[in-house]
Amino acid sequence: MSKPPGLDRGLTNYGDPEFSRYLRRSFARSMGFSGEMLDRPIVGIATSGGGFNNCHRTMSELTDAISRGVLAAGGLPLPFPTISLGEVFLHPTSMMFRNLMSMDVEEMIRAQPMDSVVLIGGCDKTVPAQLMGAASAGRTAVQVVTGPMMTGRYHGERTGACTDCRRFWAKYRSGEISKAEITEIEEQLAITAGTCAVMGTASSMACLTEALGMSLPGSAAIPAVNSARLVSAEESGKLAARLAHEPITPDQIITPQSVENALRVLLAIGGSTNAVIHLTAIAGRLGIPVSLHRLNQIADETPVLVNLKPVGMHYMEDLYAAGGVPAVMRELRPLLHLDCIGVDGRKLGDRLSESAEWIDRSVIRPMSDPISATGGLVALHGSLAPDGAILKRAAADSSLFELEGRAVVFDGLDDLNQRIDDPALDVSPRDILVLKNSGPKAAAMPESGYLPIPAKLARAGVKDMVRISDARMSGTAYGTIVLHVAPEAAAGGPLAVVRDGDHIRLSVASRTLDLLVPEREIQKRLAEWKPPVSPQRGYAALYQRSILQARQGCDFDFLVK
Ligand code: FES
Repeated sequence: MSKPPGLDRGLTNYGDPEFSRYLRRSFARSMGFSGEMLDRPIVGIATSGGGFNNCHRTMSELTDAISRGVLAAGGLPLPFPTISLGEVFLHPTSMMFRNLMSMDVEEMIRAQPMDSVVLIGGCDKTVPAQLMGAASAGRTAVQVVTGPMMTGRYHGERTGACTDCRRFWAKYRSGEISKAEITEIEEQLAITAGTCAVMGTASSMACLTEALGMSLPGSAAIPAVNSARLVSAEESGKLAARLAHEPITPDQIITPQSVENALRVLLAIGGSTNAVIHLTAIAGRLGIPVSLHRLNQIADETPVLVNLKPVGMHYMEDLYAAGGVPAVMRELRPLLHLDCIGVDGRKLGDRLSESAEWIDRSVIRPMSDPISATGGLVALHGSLAPDGAILKRAAADSSLFELEGRAVVFDGLDDLNQRIDDPALDVSPRDILVLKNSGPKAAAMPESGYLPIPAKLARAGVKDMVRISDARMSGTAYGTIVLHVAPEAAAGGPLAVVRDGDHIRLSVASRTLDLLVPEREIQKRLAEWKPPVSPQRGYAALYQRSILQARQGCDFDFLVK
């Protein structure tokens, strides 16, 4: 076993390497480390806490637990901060900053002297950003997630961020509950530290990370406030210290096969549409393409097994108690690539051969009795989405799956906000709401694809309509909502030229989304279309110049492999 370089890795350039080493050690001494400590392998701990990130409130105790594990295994833990992305605190949207955080993570892993790294993230964009950065940095990395929140109670009902936030808000909009009630409910939706309590994007990414093999088996669903989360963090620290001597790099773990495993798990858990974008971006950092056509093939073979909101009825704490991701993967075993290795060095097949623990079948169904026979997501292509779009069919109203409807078009979010509740809006339940200019280039792809049902229809009892946009949707939301239409309107996709009254046909059975306007007319309209003005300075200008479309994971063109 060779000794890792530790503190001598990547010396600062002063023109005299011996002096650089001497200077580094003497400055490190000022932090109170003994010479013995400074000779140890170094495990960096990428922390992402902050006052603007409720989901990362346990960052310091997780850092302590990881450090404990590193020290126990003979390493020196050195925590370092990176950008933190708190989903609901960022304007215009956290997606704007995912790639920035990934660059921060990548460059700090590479620039600082660490032999391995533990990444602590949780909230939606943070885990993707950390995995993207770690994949590009090529250093041994173990992902730790902050874990999901516990549920609250309101008048005897369980409540959890944030499917229930949307459910109660829809009731408030339709006049079913009062201002006083919605204010009271506000206190019961997010009651502990941790990430959203349902199978939203954060939970989906935690499960995918485990399925990829980048975190410890069984760790994804442990609630944030459960002591087992700290034990798992300690174990992750021990593992990272061991891996400093025997590196396993992300490219050995994230392979075409493990990416397919992750997609299977995503479909089986009824996971978030956003996870497709993030997984594409993570895989893209290692040159692994994720095809929407392949997603459809996998979806056809993979049943939904996990009964969690927004698709089902339970919460992440129930998934943990029911057996977690290992129990789901054991069910999926015949469909998985079993030779993939995880960060602990073991093959997936060996891990899954371990004796099955008790499984709560009300939460994790067997393959023989799934919640639905096919996967939760479906990709669509057609004249309105030449490069694809996505629909979370598991969270949609199947009576709307085959629909030809009249387009009611909104030019962007301001237009939507101004007109959606206008009593004069010409709209009926079988129309299709279309939102333009909310894609990655136009607006950093906000989670605005969950267009509200126009107030006058909501009050009349309409619960769902087909909604189409180039935006994303929160993984906690539900409805017949077509997202990620590509190319987006701001990149000159056909979405840019849809007009009020045009007809659109959605067919989930044939996986198509078509604008029923003659091709010649579409081309004529596109020839008259003008692209939006781009920002000229700072990160916004870099973002605008470099952002790729959804099918490339919305990464920057200069970061993909
Ligand atoms: Fe952080 Fe939902 S707001 S995971």
